[in-house]
Amino acid sequence: MTDSPAWSEQDSDTYRRLAPVAVPSRDHQLATIATLLPFEPTDAFEIVEIGTGEGRLSQTIAALFPHARITALDGSESMRTATTERLAEHGHRIRVDSMDLAAEDWHAHLEGVDAVVSSLVIHHLDGRGKKRLFEAAGERTSARSAFVIADLVEPASPQALELFAASWDESTRLQAAAGGQDELFDLFRSTEWNIYRIPNPMDQPSRLADQLQWLKGAGFEVADCFRLEAGHAIYGGYKGGAGDGRIDYASALRTARAALAS
Ligand SMILES: C[S@@+](CC[C@H](N)C(=O)[O-])C[C@H]1O[C@@H](n2cnc3c(N)ncnc32)[C@H](O)[C@@H]1O
Repeated sequence: MTDSPAWSEQDSDTYRRLAPVAVPSRDHQLATIATLLPFEPTDAFEIVEIGTGEGRLSQTIAALFPHARITALDGSESMRTATTERLAEHGHRIRVDSMDLAAEDWHAHLEGVDAVVSSLVIHHLDGRGKKRLFEAAGERTSARSAFVIADLVEPASPQALELFAASWDESTRLQAAAGGQDELFDLFRSTEWNIYRIPNPMDQPSRLADQLQWLKGAGFEVADCFRLEAGHAIYGGYKGGAGDGRIDYASALRTARAALAS
């Protein structure tokens, strides 16, 4: 399906160092995804996180929804180890498993679940792979499900490319300076992490408008973009039967900040 260079353990190591500065407003990113889930704090539901990394999003969701059961998937052994340790306190509610994003065997994990979330991973699939993933989720998840994604998206014009490239550099520079970690901005530049400046064949972002159409076509008919900063969009869709349960954003933000601090 997707023929591109593979994410390596060295990429995992670099990402763990860079993420605090290179992910724009990471606390708000985590809180936004959690707030968009169509559940009350007391609801019991099943959720899959695709490409969990160190598990900070799953940690945020586990803390906000104490009856949620979470399957956290990732292709990197060191990331799975970090997630397993991070989520150990939640015991049997958490399952951590390996996944090769471009393969489809792991789609079995989507069977019957009530939500799918993913942050900064799906852009490793090409457009066809993303559409196929949305269709697999639409076919397998429950009638009350939502699919919420944070990811890099393809700029729709040369002007948008300049905006995404420059604003990602600026966001990273400011976050590094705020933490007294200017060396992390140097690392961001030396590793050519800003794919809007220097494209990398491993990264295949798709147009947001296309992805919203694919989500709708897959059954997540209430599809929209909820946030966009420095080329990083938070978007997704709800099936028609998704409920109106909700949590408050201020609690989500406090919980996300605690997850990032731990
Ligand atoms: C940029 S990190 C994002 C991690 C986490 N979701 C976050 O937002 O902090 C990308 C993650 O996707 C995983 N990944 C990348 N390509 C993958 C693939 N082809 N199959 C499985 N996992 C993959 C990496 O191991 C890594 O944990």
